[in-house]
Amino acid sequence: MSSKLQGKVAVITGGASGIGEATVIKFVSEGARVVIADMQVARGEALAAAHPENAVFIRTDVCIEEQVKAAIELAVQKWGRLDCLFNNAGFGGVTGEIHETDMGEPYERTVGAMLTGPVMGMKYAAPVMKSQGFGSIITTASIAGTGGGYGPHIYTAVKAAVINLSRSVAQELGPFKVRVNTVCPGLINTPIFAGQLARKDESTDFVTPLKEMSAFAQPITRAGLPEDIANAVCFLASDESDFITGHALVVDGGMTLGAWRHPDLGPGFAETIADILGTGAPSDVDMVYHAETIEQAAK
Ligand SMILES: NC(=O)c1ccc[n+]([C@@H]2O[C@H](COP(=O)([O-])OP(=O)(O)OC[C@H]3O[C@@H](n4cnc5c(N)ncnc54)[C@H](O)[C@@H]3O)[C@@H](O)[C@H]2O)c1
Repeated sequence: MSSKLQGKVAVITGGASGIGEATVIKFVSEGARVVIADMQVARGEALAAAHPENAVFIRTDVCIEEQVKAAIELAVQKWGRLDCLFNNAGFGGVTGEIHETDMGEPYERTVGAMLTGPVMGMKYAAPVMKSQGFGSIITTASIAGTGGGYGPHIYTAVKAAVINLSRSVAQELGPFKVRVNTVCPGLINTPIFAGQLARKDESTDFVTPLKEMSAFAQPITRAGLPEDIANAVCFLASDESDFITGHALVVDGGMTLGAWRHPDLGPGFAETIADILGTGAPSDVDMVYHAETIEQAAK
């Protein structure tokens, strides 16, 4: 067992499942004590029970200010300090084309869980961390927050918002040695894609087939795992990242590097051009810019 987080105390929202659960396990294995703050009572309690000395569960809806405050207070009351807040709770949020957006509860809970929740977490963590003179606040954004096309509209908007919120708060809290960063996962195999909160059949495994499908979604050709994000969050929570603040750390296996397809999966760009030109073989396609070709064409 290594000890990158030895003696540290963390609050992890959305800690009962997926990325949050993997982060709880990682943090405990690195010597931290953790408050698991989540709406899922059975999963949260079971995870805490597996680490009785180092983890405690508190039922928390991060849309509700009093409950966020209570989770932070529990860490301080129980263990006397707060080294890390991981604002991670979230879900896919309200979907549909922009003109269809349901502005009622679906919209309110999307913004509530993934923007207002992190704001409230920072609101209550900041005074504790400022008075201590240390702390690391990490929020789960997404590659959806770095550009269009990686998620539904409102999800994309709130994930971009937490990246910039973190930059802004990082400036305020830097002089107090409190760092504020985001982690931006790519496609990570968790129950989030199953609409977990609305799911009736708890026994259905949605993650295994997703793993097979998602292995070739990015240049690193394996499925993205919750542990990949937990490792990055551990780094941002540890003293090894002591000079890093306001940063959005993309962990996506290269998904956002640009248009990409695995060479073994169907025709690539050169083959497609060869088909269009009717040359048959990609090697016959002159893919390189030649000045004389342009000159000939101009004659
Ligand atoms: N899985 C991915 O590919 C991916 C990619 C980018 C970002 N993310 C983000 O990662 C975070 C974690 O998602 P995950 O993939 O682990 O999904 P998950 O469904 O496995 O876990 C999310 C957890 O958040 C909890 N939660 C949801 N709303 C809550 C609320 N209002 N209050 C308290 N807890 C709440 C759920 O109960 C659940 O335990 C989310 O913020 C998500 O947007 C996920």
